Amino acid sequence: MKVTVFGCGYLGATHAACMAELGHEVLGVDVDLAKIATLMSGELPFYEPGLIDVLRRNIESGRVRFTSDYDEAADFANIHFLGVGTPQKKGEYAADLRHVHSMVEDLVPRLRGDHLIIGKSTVPVGTASDLQRRADRVATEGTRIEIAWNPEFLREGFAVKDTLHPDRIVLGIDLADSTSWAEAQVRELYAALLAEDIPFLVTDLATAEMVKVSANAFLATKISFINAISEVCEAAGADVTMLADAIGHDNRIGRRFLNAGLGFGGGCLPKDIRAFMARAGELGADQALTFLREVDSINMRRRTAMVELATEVCGGRLLGSNIAVLGAAFKPESDDVRDSPALNVAGQLQLKGATVSVYDPKAMANSRNVFPTLSYADSAREACDQADAVLVLTEWDEFVHMEPAELEPVVRAKNIVDGRRCLDAGVWRRAGWNYSSLGGPVRN
Ligand code: UGA
Repeated sequence: MKVTVFGCGYLGATHAACMAELGHEVLGVDVDLAKIATLMSGELPFYEPGLIDVLRRNIESGRVRFTSDYDEAADFANIHFLGVGTPQKKGEYAADLRHVHSMVEDLVPRLRGDHLIIGKSTVPVGTASDLQRRADRVATEGTRIEIAWNPEFLREGFAVKDTLHPDRIVLGIDLADSTSWAEAQVRELYAALLAEDIPFLVTDLATAEMVKVSANAFLATKISFINAISEVCEAAGADVTMLADAIGHDNRIGRRFLNAGLGFGGGCLPKDIRAFMARAGELGADQALTFLREVDSINMRRRTAMVELATEVCGGRLLGSNIAVLGAAFKPESDDVRDSPALNVAGQLQLKGATVSVYDPKAMANSRNVFPTLSYADSAREACDQADAVLVLTEWDEFVHMEPAELEPVVRAKNIVDGRRCLDAGVWRRAGWNYSSLGGPVRN
Protein backbone atom coordinates (compact mmCIF):
# COMPACT_ATOMS: atom_id res chain seq x y z
CA MET A 1 0.00 0.00 0.00
CA LYS A 2 1.06 3.62 -0.39
CA VAL A 3 1.19 5.92 2.64
CA THR A 4 2.61 9.27 3.61
CA VAL A 5 3.96 10.07 7.07
CA PHE A 6 3.77 13.74 8.08
CA GLY A 7 6.41 14.81 10.58
CA CYS A 8 9.84 13.20 10.35
CA GLY A 9 10.94 13.65 13.93
CA TYR A 10 11.50 10.76 16.25
CA LEU A 11 8.05 9.25 15.85
CA GLY A 12 7.53 10.00 12.15
CA ALA A 13 10.96 8.94 10.87
CA THR A 14 10.71 5.67 12.78
CA HIS A 15 7.19 5.05 11.54
CA ALA A 16 8.10 5.85 7.94
CA ALA A 17 11.09 3.49 7.93
CA CYS A 18 9.15 0.71 9.68
CA MET A 19 6.11 0.98 7.40
CA ALA A 20 8.50 0.56 4.46
CA GLU A 21 10.02 -2.43 6.25
CA LEU A 22 6.52 -3.94 6.30
CA GLY A 23 6.53 -3.66 2.51
CA HIS A 24 4.58 -0.44 1.96
CA GLU A 25 5.61 2.43 -0.30
CA VAL A 26 6.22 5.39 1.98
CA LEU A 27 6.72 9.13 1.51
CA GLY A 28 7.92 10.96 4.64
CA VAL A 29 6.99 14.66 4.73
CA ASP A 30 8.49 17.42 6.84
CA VAL A 31 8.80 21.19 6.52
CA ASP A 32 12.40 21.02 7.80
CA LEU A 33 14.56 20.80 4.66
CA ALA A 34 17.71 19.91 6.59
CA LYS A 35 15.93 16.94 8.18
CA ILE A 36 14.70 15.77 4.77
CA ALA A 37 18.24 15.99 3.33
CA THR A 38 19.67 14.04 6.30
CA LEU A 39 17.10 11.26 5.99
CA MET A 40 17.46 11.06 2.20
CA SER A 41 21.20 10.56 2.64
CA GLY A 42 20.47 7.55 4.86
CA GLU A 43 21.39 9.34 8.10
CA LEU A 44 19.25 9.98 11.17
CA PRO A 45 18.84 13.37 12.87
CA PHE A 46 18.86 11.49 16.23
CA TYR A 47 20.35 8.31 17.70
CA GLU A 48 18.19 5.19 17.79
CA PRO A 49 19.73 1.71 17.87
CA GLY A 50 18.96 -0.37 14.76
CA LEU A 51 16.89 2.27 12.97
CA ILE A 52 19.60 3.38 10.57
CA ASP A 53 19.81 -0.11 9.04
CA VAL A 54 16.06 -0.22 8.49
CA LEU A 55 16.15 3.27 6.96
CA ARG A 56 19.08 2.56 4.62
CA ARG A 57 17.71 -0.79 3.49
CA ASN A 58 14.40 0.80 2.53
CA ILE A 59 15.92 3.89 0.90
CA GLU A 60 18.04 1.59 -1.25
CA SER A 61 15.04 -0.51 -2.26
CA GLY A 62 13.14 2.70 -3.06
CA ARG A 63 10.32 1.89 -0.64
CA VAL A 64 10.83 5.04 1.41
CA ARG A 65 11.77 8.58 0.46
CA PHE A 66 11.30 12.00 2.00
CA THR A 67 10.02 15.36 0.78
CA SER A 68 8.86 18.75 1.99
CA ASP A 69 6.38 19.12 -0.88
CA TYR A 70 2.75 18.88 0.27
CA ASP A 71 1.45 18.74 -3.34
CA GLU A 72 3.60 15.69 -3.98
CA ALA A 73 2.31 14.10 -0.77
CA ALA A 74 -1.33 14.84 -1.67
CA ASP A 75 -0.89 13.01 -5.00
CA PHE A 76 1.20 10.17 -3.58
CA ALA A 77 -1.33 8.33 -1.42
CA ASN A 78 -4.82 8.25 0.06
CA ILE A 79 -3.59 7.27 3.51
CA HIS A 80 -1.68 9.84 5.54
CA PHE A 81 -0.13 9.30 8.95
CA LEU A 82 0.13 12.36 11.17
CA GLY A 83 3.21 12.18 13.40
CA VAL A 84 4.09 15.81 14.09
CA GLY A 85 5.22 17.06 17.50
CA THR A 86 2.86 18.21 20.26
CA PRO A 87 5.22 19.92 22.72
CA GLN A 88 4.22 21.62 25.97
CA LYS A 89 3.11 25.24 25.45
CA LYS A 90 5.55 27.81 26.81
CA GLY A 91 4.59 28.75 30.36
CA GLU A 92 1.51 26.51 30.37
CA TYR A 93 0.70 22.86 31.00
CA ALA A 94 -1.36 22.43 27.83
CA ALA A 95 -0.07 20.83 24.62
CA ASP A 96 0.77 23.06 21.68
CA LEU A 97 -1.25 21.75 18.74
CA ARG A 98 -0.15 24.22 16.10
CA HIS A 99 1.75 21.61 14.04
CA VAL A 100 -1.20 19.22 14.14
CA HIS A 101 -3.59 21.94 12.99
CA SER A 102 -1.35 23.19 10.22
CA MET A 103 -0.70 19.68 8.90
CA VAL A 104 -4.44 19.14 8.41
CA GLU A 105 -5.21 22.65 7.18
CA ASP A 106 -2.30 22.68 4.69
CA LEU A 107 -2.82 19.16 3.37
CA VAL A 108 -6.59 18.76 3.16
CA PRO A 109 -7.30 21.54 0.59
CA ARG A 110 -4.84 19.76 -1.75
CA LEU A 111 -6.61 16.39 -1.54
CA ARG A 112 -9.09 14.99 -4.10
CA GLY A 113 -11.22 11.87 -3.63
CA ASP A 114 -11.36 9.76 -0.46
CA HIS A 115 -8.53 10.11 2.05
CA LEU A 116 -7.79 8.72 5.48
CA ILE A 117 -5.69 10.70 7.97
CA ILE A 118 -4.42 8.49 10.79
CA GLY A 119 -3.17 10.42 13.81
CA LYS A 120 -0.24 8.98 15.74
CA SER A 121 0.85 12.02 17.76
CA THR A 122 -0.02 12.24 21.46
CA VAL A 123 -2.89 14.73 21.68
CA PRO A 124 -5.44 15.97 24.22
CA VAL A 125 -8.74 14.09 24.11
CA GLY A 126 -11.11 15.74 21.65
CA THR A 127 -8.42 16.69 19.13
CA ALA A 128 -9.40 14.06 16.53
CA SER A 129 -13.05 15.19 16.41
CA ASP A 130 -11.91 18.79 16.20
CA LEU A 131 -9.57 17.86 13.32
CA GLN A 132 -12.46 16.14 11.54
CA ARG A 133 -14.44 19.39 11.72
CA ARG A 134 -11.42 21.41 10.56
CA ALA A 135 -10.83 18.97 7.67
CA ASP A 136 -14.47 19.07 6.60
CA ARG A 137 -14.32 22.87 6.61
CA VAL A 138 -11.32 23.11 4.26
CA ALA A 139 -11.89 20.05 2.03
CA THR A 140 -12.77 20.76 -1.60
CA GLU A 141 -16.23 19.73 -2.79
CA GLY A 142 -16.57 16.02 -3.45
CA THR A 143 -13.54 15.17 -1.33
CA ARG A 144 -14.11 12.95 1.71
CA ILE A 145 -11.67 12.98 4.60
CA GLU A 146 -11.83 10.53 7.50
CA ILE A 147 -9.78 11.10 10.65
CA ALA A 148 -8.76 8.05 12.72
CA TRP A 149 -6.42 7.79 15.71
CA ASN A 150 -3.74 5.12 16.11
CA PRO A 151 -1.60 6.15 19.09
CA GLU A 152 2.07 5.21 19.20
CA PHE A 153 3.53 3.48 22.25
CA LEU A 154 7.18 3.10 21.19
CA ARG A 155 10.00 3.76 23.64
CA GLU A 156 13.17 5.57 22.62
CA GLY A 157 15.99 3.05 22.49
CA PHE A 158 13.55 0.28 21.40
CA ALA A 159 11.74 2.14 18.64
CA VAL A 160 12.16 -0.44 15.87
CA LYS A 161 11.21 -3.39 18.05
CA ASP A 162 8.24 -1.54 19.55
CA THR A 163 6.97 -0.49 16.11
CA LEU A 164 7.37 -3.87 14.43
CA HIS A 165 6.33 -5.92 17.49
CA PRO A 166 3.99 -3.70 19.51
CA ASP A 167 2.20 -4.98 22.65
CA ARG A 168 -1.09 -3.86 21.09
CA ILE A 169 -2.50 -1.76 18.28
CA VAL A 170 -5.22 0.71 19.21
CA LEU A 171 -7.38 2.32 16.56
CA GLY A 172 -9.86 5.06 17.31
CA ILE A 173 -12.54 5.71 14.68
CA ASP A 174 -15.87 7.46 14.55
CA LEU A 175 -17.96 4.45 15.57
CA ALA A 176 -21.19 6.26 14.63
CA ASP A 177 -20.05 6.64 11.01
CA SER A 178 -21.46 3.64 9.15
CA THR A 179 -19.38 4.50 6.09
CA SER A 180 -16.05 4.37 7.95
CA TRP A 181 -13.44 2.53 5.93
CA ALA A 182 -10.61 3.26 8.36
CA GLU A 183 -10.62 -0.08 10.16
CA ALA A 184 -10.32 -2.15 6.98
CA GLN A 185 -7.48 0.07 5.71
CA VAL A 186 -5.57 -0.08 8.97
CA ARG A 187 -6.02 -3.86 9.26
CA GLU A 188 -4.52 -4.20 5.80
CA LEU A 189 -1.63 -1.83 6.62
CA TYR A 190 -0.73 -3.81 9.74
CA ALA A 191 -1.62 -7.26 8.31
CA ALA A 192 1.89 -8.60 8.96
CA LEU A 193 1.65 -7.62 12.64
CA LEU A 194 -1.89 -8.89 13.07
CA ALA A 195 -0.76 -12.25 11.68
CA GLU A 196 1.42 -12.48 14.81
CA ASP A 197 -1.69 -12.23 17.00
CA ILE A 198 -0.91 -8.76 18.28
CA PRO A 199 -4.09 -7.51 20.01
CA PHE A 200 -6.01 -5.02 17.86
CA LEU A 201 -8.45 -2.83 19.75
CA VAL A 202 -10.94 -0.68 17.90
CA THR A 203 -12.40 2.15 19.98
CA ASP A 204 -14.06 5.51 19.52
CA LEU A 205 -11.75 8.46 18.86
CA ALA A 206 -11.80 9.90 22.39
CA THR A 207 -10.93 6.55 23.97
CA ALA A 208 -7.98 5.99 21.63
CA GLU A 209 -6.62 9.45 22.43
CA MET A 210 -7.04 8.80 26.15
CA VAL A 211 -5.47 5.33 26.06
CA LYS A 212 -2.17 6.91 25.13
CA VAL A 213 -2.05 9.61 27.79
CA SER A 214 -3.45 7.25 30.42
CA ALA A 215 -0.68 4.73 29.70
CA ASN A 216 1.99 7.41 30.07
CA ALA A 217 0.31 8.79 33.21
CA PHE A 218 0.31 5.29 34.70
CA LEU A 219 4.01 4.78 33.92
CA ALA A 220 4.89 8.18 35.40
CA THR A 221 2.82 7.37 38.49
CA LYS A 222 4.58 4.04 38.91
CA ILE A 223 7.99 5.73 38.83
CA SER A 224 6.93 8.47 41.24
CA PHE A 225 5.32 5.90 43.51
CA ILE A 226 8.61 4.07 43.95
CA ASN A 227 10.51 7.35 44.31
CA ALA A 228 8.11 8.45 47.07
CA ILE A 229 8.64 5.10 48.81
CA SER A 230 12.34 5.68 48.26
CA GLU A 231 12.16 8.91 50.31
CA VAL A 232 10.66 6.94 53.20
CA CYS A 233 13.28 4.20 52.75
CA GLU A 234 16.01 6.84 53.09
CA ALA A 235 14.44 8.13 56.32
CA ALA A 236 13.86 4.63 57.71
CA GLY A 237 17.13 3.00 56.66
CA ALA A 238 15.36 0.56 54.32
CA ASP A 239 16.52 -0.41 50.83
CA VAL A 240 14.17 0.64 48.01
CA THR A 241 15.68 -1.75 45.45
CA MET A 242 15.10 -4.80 47.65
CA LEU A 243 11.63 -3.48 48.36
CA ALA A 244 10.87 -3.06 44.64
CA ASP A 245 12.11 -6.59 43.94
CA ALA A 246 9.86 -7.94 46.67
CA ILE A 247 6.67 -6.08 45.72
CA GLY A 248 7.39 -6.60 42.02
CA HIS A 249 7.04 -10.36 42.42
CA ASP A 250 3.32 -9.77 42.82
CA ASN A 251 2.08 -10.04 39.23
CA ARG A 252 -0.56 -7.43 39.91
CA ILE A 253 2.22 -4.94 40.61
CA GLY A 254 5.08 -6.13 38.36
CA ARG A 255 8.75 -5.19 38.69
CA ARG A 256 9.07 -3.02 35.56
CA PHE A 257 9.12 0.78 35.98
CA LEU A 258 9.86 0.42 39.69
CA ASN A 259 13.47 1.59 39.42
CA ALA A 260 13.95 4.36 41.95
CA GLY A 261 16.51 7.07 41.34
CA LEU A 262 16.58 10.39 39.61
CA GLY A 263 13.10 10.03 38.14
CA PHE A 264 11.63 10.46 34.70
CA GLY A 265 12.42 12.94 31.96
CA GLY A 266 12.31 13.02 28.18
CA GLY A 267 9.98 14.45 25.59
CA CYS A 268 6.93 12.41 26.64
CA LEU A 269 6.11 11.51 30.25
CA PRO A 270 6.62 14.99 31.82
CA LYS A 271 4.76 16.94 29.15
CA ASP A 272 2.05 14.30 28.72
CA ILE A 273 1.00 14.26 32.37
CA ARG A 274 0.87 18.05 32.37
CA ALA A 275 -1.18 18.22 29.17
CA PHE A 276 -3.51 15.54 30.58
CA MET A 277 -4.13 17.65 33.71
CA ALA A 278 -4.72 20.74 31.57
CA ARG A 279 -7.23 18.93 29.36
CA ALA A 280 -9.05 17.40 32.34
CA GLY A 281 -9.36 20.94 33.72
CA GLU A 282 -10.84 22.23 30.46
CA LEU A 283 -13.35 19.38 30.59
CA GLY A 284 -14.34 20.26 34.17
CA ALA A 285 -12.75 17.08 35.55
CA ASP A 286 -9.67 18.72 37.09
CA GLN A 287 -10.23 17.06 40.50
CA ALA A 288 -9.74 13.67 38.87
CA LEU A 289 -6.09 14.23 38.02
CA THR A 290 -4.81 16.31 40.93
CA PHE A 291 -2.69 13.29 41.93
CA LEU A 292 -0.64 13.84 38.76
CA ARG A 293 0.48 17.16 40.21
CA GLU A 294 1.97 15.14 43.07
CA VAL A 295 3.50 12.65 40.61
CA ASP A 296 5.19 15.61 38.90
CA SER A 297 6.43 17.17 42.13
CA ILE A 298 7.77 13.89 43.58
CA ASN A 299 9.66 13.57 40.31
CA MET A 300 11.12 17.09 40.42
CA ARG A 301 12.07 16.57 44.09
CA ARG A 302 14.46 13.80 43.05
CA ARG A 303 16.57 16.33 41.21
CA THR A 304 16.78 18.59 44.27
CA ALA A 305 17.59 15.55 46.44
CA MET A 306 20.44 14.64 44.11
CA VAL A 307 21.88 18.17 44.30
CA GLU A 308 21.68 17.97 48.10
CA LEU A 309 23.35 14.57 48.16
CA ALA A 310 26.16 15.78 45.89
CA THR A 311 26.64 18.83 48.12
CA GLU A 312 26.87 16.62 51.20
CA VAL A 313 29.38 14.32 49.49
CA CYS A 314 31.50 17.38 48.63
CA GLY A 315 31.67 18.30 52.33
CA GLY A 316 28.73 20.70 52.36
CA ARG A 317 30.17 23.23 49.89
CA LEU A 318 29.88 23.24 46.13
CA LEU A 319 31.95 26.37 45.59
CA GLY A 320 35.41 25.19 44.61
CA SER A 321 34.29 21.56 44.10
CA ASN A 322 34.82 19.68 40.86
CA ILE A 323 31.97 17.38 39.93
CA ALA A 324 31.94 14.81 37.13
CA VAL A 325 28.47 14.14 35.72
CA LEU A 326 28.35 10.88 33.80
CA GLY A 327 25.24 10.79 31.62
CA ALA A 328 23.29 13.63 30.02
CA ALA A 329 20.60 11.81 28.01
CA PHE A 330 17.23 11.37 29.77
CA LYS A 331 17.84 7.61 29.61
CA PRO A 332 20.42 5.22 28.12
CA GLU A 333 20.41 4.25 24.41
CA SER A 334 19.17 7.70 23.48
CA ASP A 335 20.75 11.04 22.63
CA ASP A 336 17.61 12.89 23.73
CA VAL A 337 18.19 15.53 26.40
CA ARG A 338 14.67 16.96 26.51
CA ASP A 339 13.80 17.51 30.18
CA SER A 340 16.79 15.38 31.11
CA PRO A 341 17.11 14.90 34.89
CA ALA A 342 20.89 14.46 34.48
CA LEU A 343 21.42 17.78 32.68
CA ASN A 344 19.07 19.54 35.06
CA VAL A 345 21.14 18.36 38.03
CA ALA A 346 24.38 19.33 36.25
CA GLY A 347 22.98 22.83 35.65
CA GLN A 348 21.83 23.25 39.26
CA LEU A 349 25.24 22.18 40.58
CA GLN A 350 26.97 24.68 38.34
CA LEU A 351 24.62 27.47 39.42
CA LYS A 352 25.50 26.69 43.03
CA GLY A 353 29.19 27.19 42.32
CA ALA A 354 30.56 23.75 41.42
CA THR A 355 32.76 23.21 38.38
CA VAL A 356 30.87 20.55 36.45
CA SER A 357 32.25 18.37 33.69
CA VAL A 358 29.73 16.30 31.73
CA TYR A 359 30.22 13.23 29.58
CA ASP A 360 27.63 11.14 27.72
CA PRO A 361 28.33 8.48 25.06
CA LYS A 362 25.72 9.83 22.59
CA ALA A 363 24.16 13.05 23.84
CA MET A 364 27.11 15.47 23.72
CA ALA A 365 25.98 17.49 20.70
CA ASN A 366 22.42 17.89 21.97
CA SER A 367 23.65 18.77 25.46
CA ARG A 368 25.97 21.46 24.11
CA ASN A 369 23.03 22.94 22.21
CA VAL A 370 20.67 23.18 25.16
CA PHE A 371 23.26 23.83 27.87
CA PRO A 372 26.26 25.57 26.26
CA THR A 373 27.56 26.93 29.56
CA LEU A 374 28.45 23.53 31.05
CA SER A 375 31.87 22.01 30.33
CA TYR A 376 31.98 18.81 28.37
CA ALA A 377 34.59 16.06 28.32
CA ASP A 378 35.42 13.52 25.61
CA SER A 379 35.39 10.51 27.92
CA ALA A 380 34.27 9.44 31.38
CA ARG A 381 37.88 9.48 32.51
CA GLU A 382 38.41 13.02 31.24
CA ALA A 383 35.20 14.21 32.98
CA CYS A 384 36.51 12.73 36.24
CA ASP A 385 39.80 14.58 36.10
CA GLN A 386 40.38 16.16 39.56
CA ALA A 387 36.78 15.36 40.55
CA ASP A 388 35.70 15.59 44.18
CA ALA A 389 32.61 13.52 43.31
CA VAL A 390 31.60 11.36 40.37
CA LEU A 391 27.83 11.32 39.72
CA VAL A 392 26.33 8.58 37.53
CA LEU A 393 23.06 10.11 36.38
CA THR A 394 22.16 8.03 33.29
CA GLU A 395 22.64 4.28 33.47
CA TRP A 396 24.59 3.70 30.24
CA ASP A 397 26.28 0.25 30.19
CA GLU A 398 29.63 2.00 29.87
CA PHE A 399 29.12 3.53 33.34
CA VAL A 400 27.47 0.50 34.92
CA HIS A 401 30.52 -1.63 34.06
CA MET A 402 33.13 1.03 34.80
CA GLU A 403 36.07 -0.21 36.90
CA PRO A 404 36.96 1.94 39.93
CA ALA A 405 40.64 1.44 39.06
CA GLU A 406 40.11 3.31 35.75
CA LEU A 407 39.15 6.50 37.57
CA GLU A 408 41.38 6.27 40.63
CA PRO A 409 44.46 7.88 39.08
CA VAL A 410 42.50 10.97 37.95
CA VAL A 411 40.00 11.83 40.71
CA ARG A 412 40.76 14.13 43.65
CA ALA A 413 38.51 12.18 46.04
CA LYS A 414 37.04 8.70 45.74
CA ASN A 415 33.34 9.67 46.00
CA ILE A 416 30.87 7.91 43.73
CA VAL A 417 27.17 8.88 43.68
CA ASP A 418 24.80 6.45 42.00
CA GLY A 419 21.82 8.46 40.73
CA ARG A 420 20.17 5.43 39.13
CA ARG A 421 21.03 2.69 41.64
CA CYS A 422 22.69 0.89 38.77
CA LEU A 423 26.23 0.31 40.08
CA ASP A 424 27.57 -2.59 42.10
CA ALA A 425 28.09 -0.83 45.41
CA GLY A 426 30.25 -3.67 46.74
CA VAL A 427 32.77 -3.31 43.91
CA TRP A 428 33.21 0.41 44.60
CA ARG A 429 33.34 0.06 48.38
CA ARG A 430 35.88 -2.74 48.24
CA ALA A 431 38.04 -0.47 46.06
CA GLY A 432 37.96 2.09 48.86
CA TRP A 433 35.36 4.46 47.41
CA ASN A 434 32.65 6.23 49.34
CA TYR A 435 29.49 5.00 47.56
CA SER A 436 26.18 6.83 48.01
CA SER A 437 22.81 6.81 46.32
CA LEU A 438 19.24 8.02 46.72
CA GLY A 439 16.84 5.44 48.13
CA GLY A 440 18.37 4.13 51.31
CA PRO A 441 21.04 1.58 52.16
CA VAL A 442 22.58 -0.45 49.38
CA ARG A 443 24.05 -3.49 51.06
CA ASN A 444 27.03 -5.10 49.34
C1 UGA B 1 7.61 6.69 27.09
C2 UGA B 1 6.73 5.44 27.19
O1 UGA B 1 7.41 4.44 27.92
C3 UGA B 1 6.36 4.93 25.80
O2 UGA B 1 5.48 3.83 25.89
C4 UGA B 1 5.69 6.07 25.01
O3 UGA B 1 5.35 5.66 23.69
C5 UGA B 1 6.64 7.24 24.94
O4 UGA B 1 6.95 7.68 26.28
C6 UGA B 1 5.93 8.33 24.19
O5 UGA B 1 4.91 8.83 24.68
O6 UGA B 1 6.33 8.64 23.06
P1 UGA B 1 10.22 7.08 26.61
O7 UGA B 1 9.94 8.53 26.84
O8 UGA B 1 11.02 6.66 25.43
O9 UGA B 1 8.82 6.27 26.48
O10 UGA B 1 10.98 6.56 27.88
P2 UGA B 1 10.71 5.53 29.08
O11 UGA B 1 11.43 4.28 28.82
O12 UGA B 1 9.27 5.46 29.39
O13 UGA B 1 11.46 6.29 30.27
C7 UGA B 1 10.99 7.58 30.69
C8 UGA B 1 11.81 8.08 31.85
O14 UGA B 1 11.51 7.34 33.02
C9 UGA B 1 13.33 8.00 31.68
O15 UGA B 1 13.90 9.20 32.12
C10 UGA B 1 13.74 6.84 32.58
O16 UGA B 1 15.04 6.98 33.08
C11 UGA B 1 12.70 6.96 33.69
N1 UGA B 1 12.45 5.69 34.41
C12 UGA B 1 11.93 4.61 33.75
C13 UGA B 1 12.71 5.61 35.78
O17 UGA B 1 13.17 6.58 36.40
N2 UGA B 1 12.46 4.43 36.44
C14 UGA B 1 11.94 3.35 35.81
O18 UGA B 1 11.72 2.32 36.47
C15 UGA B 1 11.69 3.43 34.43
